[in-house]
Amino acid sequence: MKVFAFINQKGGVGKTTSVVTLGSGFALKGYSTLLVDCDPQGHIATQLNISKAPGVRRWYYDEEPLEQVVVQVRENLWVLPGDKTTDRVLGRMREEQWGAAEFADRLREESTALEMDAVLLDLAPSLNHLQIAAMLASDYVIIPTRLRYTDLDGVNEITRSITETARRSRMPGRYYLLPTFFDRVTKETHQRLVELVDAFGKQVLPPIPQDVRLAPSLNHLQIAAMLASDYVIIPTRLRYTDLDGVNEITRSITETARRSRMPGRYYLLPTFFDRVTKETHQRLVELVDAFGKQVLPPIPQDVRLAEAPGRGMTVWEYAPQCQAIQGYINGSGKTIGGYAAILEELIALLGGV
Ligand SMILES: Nc1ncnc2c1ncn2[C@@H]1O[C@H](COP(=O)(O)OP(=O)(O)OP(=O)(O)O)[C@@H](O)[C@H]1O
Ligand SMILES: [Mg+2]
Repeated sequence: MKVFAFINQKGGVGKTTSVVTLGSGFALKGYSTLLVDCDPQGHIATQLNISKAPGVRRWYYDEEPLEQVVVQVRENLWVLPGDKTTDRVLGRMREEQWGAAEFADRLREESTALEMDAVLLDLAPSLNHLQIAAMLASDYVIIPTRLRYTDLDGVNEITRSITETARRSRMPGRYYLLPTFFDRVTKETHQRLVELVDAFGKQVLPPIPQDVRLAPSLNHLQIAAMLASDYVIIPTRLRYTDLDGVNEITRSITETARRSRMPGRYYLLPTFFDRVTKETHQRLVELVDAFGKQVLPPIPQDVRLAEAPGRGMTVWEYAPQCQAIQGYINGSGKTIGGYAAILEELIALLGGV
């Protein structure tokens, strides 16, 4: 049996996707495989379309036998599911000096007793007691990392922490870097991959290409919807973290259009615009700089939008004069944004191309 821990304190780098994809790959090849969800977000359940459950808490915290809490999801494939109660495990590890070592020993012992060939641990994006426990339990630490400058700077921190933990324990301290979101087309990720290999040599695994089929945010249904559409409208919040995804979607639209008859026309619809603070203004300016006329007028943040459904009404019925519909008046007295204005634009599209 071998245990692999997938660790990176950066979020969204492909940890869970790698655990689920590689784990189900092991299972398909006939190896008994256990996926352990040590992330309170319970994303393994989400990706495999099963219910989140307090599996990790029941096993570690309530000390129920592993056998009783694992769920079989495919032939040869079992999951120890997690949910937000996994936080309690972390709490106990903070308090008890030997908590991490106990986690590691019990996991190895009980997985061996269940005759597992491979155990893959998915972890939350942080570097604390649970990650250390996972390191202690593992034969190999795999560090999925995006090939962006901002993501690579965390890698040294993890490798240092692995070496440090290995020095004080029996863990072998072997690790591999798994480059994810590799982009065949642009130079950026190539360049970063070269740097990574320069620094870590053979410890760098072959890169996983960026691929819309891996992203549940763009699954087959979304692709089908794109193919069916004359226009794709991309509602996006005006927050830094949300804008990140926009490039990914527009790229995938362009890519899908290139290989099909779909026209590949898209508009961005900025939502949750806040008249008062500077933040969303700034983001809107950036969006317009990047996408020009493809950015629709912004929809103001407005509680009426949240209230209407509870009253069983559309906003047109509930509060037709509200800001979300009518837009807001800017300094020079001009009305900006709102669903009413956008509706006009879309109605214009109905007539011709
Ligand atoms: N190679 C890839 N190409 C395209 N999309 C990917 C790829 N790998 C992962 N994704 C998508 O990116 C998002 C983040 O991936 P994932 O959830 O695996 O990251 P994570 O590191 O586990 O995140 P967290 O730190 O929040 O746990 C998901 O929507 C996933 O489907
Ligand atoms: Mg994850």
